[in-house]
Amino acid sequence: MSTGSTTRVITTHKLLEMKQKGEKISMLTAYDYTSAKIVDQAGIDIILVGDSAANVMAGHETTLPITIDQMIYHAQSVMRAVKNPLVVVDMPFGTYQGNPKEAVRSAIRIMKESEADAVKMEGGSEIMESVERILSTGIPVMGHLGLTPQSIHKFGTYAVRAKEEAEANKLIEDAVALEKAGCFAIVLEKIPAALAKKVSETLSIPVIGIGAGRYCDGQVLVMHDMLGLNNSFSPRFLRRYGNLYEEYLKAFRNYVEDVKSGDFPNESEQY
Ligand code: KIV
Repeated sequence: MSTGSTTRVITTHKLLEMKQKGEKISMLTAYDYTSAKIVDQAGIDIILVGDSAANVMAGHETTLPITIDQMIYHAQSVMRAVKNPLVVVDMPFGTYQGNPKEAVRSAIRIMKESEADAVKMEGGSEIMESVERILSTGIPVMGHLGLTPQSIHKFGTYAVRAKEEAEANKLIEDAVALEKAGCFAIVLEKIPAALAKKVSETLSIPVIGIGAGRYCDGQVLVMHDMLGLNNSFSPRFLRRYGNLYEEYLKAFRNYVEDVKSGDFPNESEQY
């Protein structure tokens, strides 16, 4: 059974207070019970059950194929583990872009079945009606602007967004509109640091960056990337806090060797 959001140490209100006090917010993705338990123990403020699960858990090229059932499964696993952080679940591609009614139905399903604390949605003016309708049901919404991976086929590249004035201006307008609509925070992905600074200073809600520089109110990374589990992904913004690819490989190789040689199990490892 999950602990339920009423017992959460980190709430959307607390995050707002953190911004007001200038206290930086830490956010990390998690998709399973075991990892989420460790992340909670480490003192993370927000866990994102990201649709990046499509990439790092399922091996898809993009985040588009993950389904709402799969997102709910990941969110339920995380919720069984955590006590303190706010848990935000990505609304997967195709569950909210179509029409606001469908968006509300999807958000309610995620909240009801996972017992998470909030949802995250990619986009600005294009999805504003859906954002507003979901907010009107009492579900907290986190926005996501800049590089929005669910629109990869429109962008055609994962390069830095909003380098040009027109796109930067639209991003600022969208961020202000999301705050006005009632979002409790927004994620800015892969945009110039100066633009992210401007947005963070303009908004009174927390701005969490990934590849958006040091002036954001908080930072988010994908767990598998920061642990060094994916050694073929090394964008400039990524700081690795481990080299788990090598650690895993070493452990798996040692196990294979021990089984083949008959060293495992030994006398004390049997009944
Ligand atoms: O799905 C995800 O992991 C995300 C982060 C990159 C912010 O949306």
